[in-house]
Amino acid sequence: MSPPPPPPVTVIGIGAEGWEGLGPAAREALRTAEVVIGGRRHLGLLPPECPGERVPWPSPLRPAVPGLFAAHTGRRISVLASGDPMFFGIGRTLAELLGAERLRVLPHPSSVSLACARLGWALEETEVVSLVGRPLATLNRELYAGRRLLVLSAGADTPAEVAGVLGERGFGPSRMRVLEQLGSAGERCVEGTAEAWPHPPGDPLNVIAVDCAPADRARPLSLVPGLPEAAYDHDGQLTKRHVRAVTLAALAPAPGELLWDVGGGSGSIAVEWMRAHRTCRAVSVERDAVRAERIGRNAAALGVPGLTVVTGAAPDALAGLPAPDAVFIGGGLTAPGVLEACWAALPPGGRIVANTVTLESEALLADWYRGHGGDLVRLAVSHATPVGAFTGWRQAMPVTQWSTTKPLASRGTGGDAADPEGSDEAAQGETR
Ligand SMILES: C[S@@+](CC[C@H](N)C(=O)[O-])C[C@H]1O[C@@H](n2cnc3c(N)ncnc32)[C@H](O)[C@@H]1O
Repeated sequence: MSPPPPPPVTVIGIGAEGWEGLGPAAREALRTAEVVIGGRRHLGLLPPECPGERVPWPSPLRPAVPGLFAAHTGRRISVLASGDPMFFGIGRTLAELLGAERLRVLPHPSSVSLACARLGWALEETEVVSLVGRPLATLNRELYAGRRLLVLSAGADTPAEVAGVLGERGFGPSRMRVLEQLGSAGERCVEGTAEAWPHPPGDPLNVIAVDCAPADRARPLSLVPGLPEAAYDHDGQLTKRHVRAVTLAALAPAPGELLWDVGGGSGSIAVEWMRAHRTCRAVSVERDAVRAERIGRNAAALGVPGLTVVTGAAPDALAGLPAPDAVFIGGGLTAPGVLEACWAALPPGGRIVANTVTLESEALLADWYRGHGGDLVRLAVSHATPVGAFTGWRQAMPVTQWSTTKPLASRGTGGDAADPEGSDEAAQGETR
């Protein structure tokens, strides 16, 4: 017989007002808990009628969670969390580590719900950005004229830091309101513009409401692929915008997916993949250290600081990377084993796109096209330029692009894919 399941862990959202803001179910769970786990501030909000052992979160928290819960096996455990535990909160970590079925979550309105209530903002029209444990550069993807942002602060210094970013990015006239201690007796709101932020650091418990207003009507950086070249710092190793737009369309980013950008150059393909949706992830592999560093800077400037940059040459540098949903090869095509390694790492249904301007790589792509099908296209972009007093076309180097989706039953690698003998074994080796 299997052992009985462990008792549920009750995760209770609590507001800044403390005990008085809790509902009957949350109070009952806290009164009867044998152990209450939470931050010191939250544990301090409990009245004496909660006799359970109070255990503050260890630091670092995540690696300690399994051991902490194992140490209290068989006891009634409640966890205190701020606001809605499932919104940028501990609830997610606990669901991942203990299993969602073990949790009983009793949410409180989140700071974001309370802020929207104070401001009269529709929550569904408001962009929420957390800067708790996340780089400030995350904001750079969210700045558009007329948008309303709620920023979850990391602490008392965050409002001035946000004001600084808004100013640097041309959004100095934005109205900022800092809502502190929402729901408590000490609640207050201070306001100003980003370019003339007048307030010293206040309460560390705050959210920042931003009405985004640019200083001029400069063309915004769209979230749709094909940003102008000028959006990137580069040394010429940059997929040009028209080809980039076609490339991203072929890569077809979907929420949550991971891209390998092999031969990252300036990082534009990975950056625009990640800008497609805030849950998109990317690893850019670049052998040149100066370029690799530049990729990181471009990613931060364009609001995707979570882009992982690996400095090293493919295929060796690909070893050990998490399996991708899509692969782009913009450099290193002729390095032995690069295409093979990328193809092998790709799961069935994954997309691969490779671009080249050289005949040598084109021959390779033609070979893979014969073996695996897909689309082999030539992209020739011409720009109108002055010719004396007239205007003529100046053609950029044509780019050959091969793209395909890995089939459910793989047909082998390279030019030998037509050989039915080898296909079964090859497919098994390639599909992981
Ligand atoms: C044409 S650029 C790619 C441009 C890039 N897609 C962009 O838009 O910024 C090619 C890059 O691939 C890099 N590269 C070439 N062979 C490589 C290899 N085997 N592994 C990693 N990077 C490589 C080069 O250093 C160069 O930066």
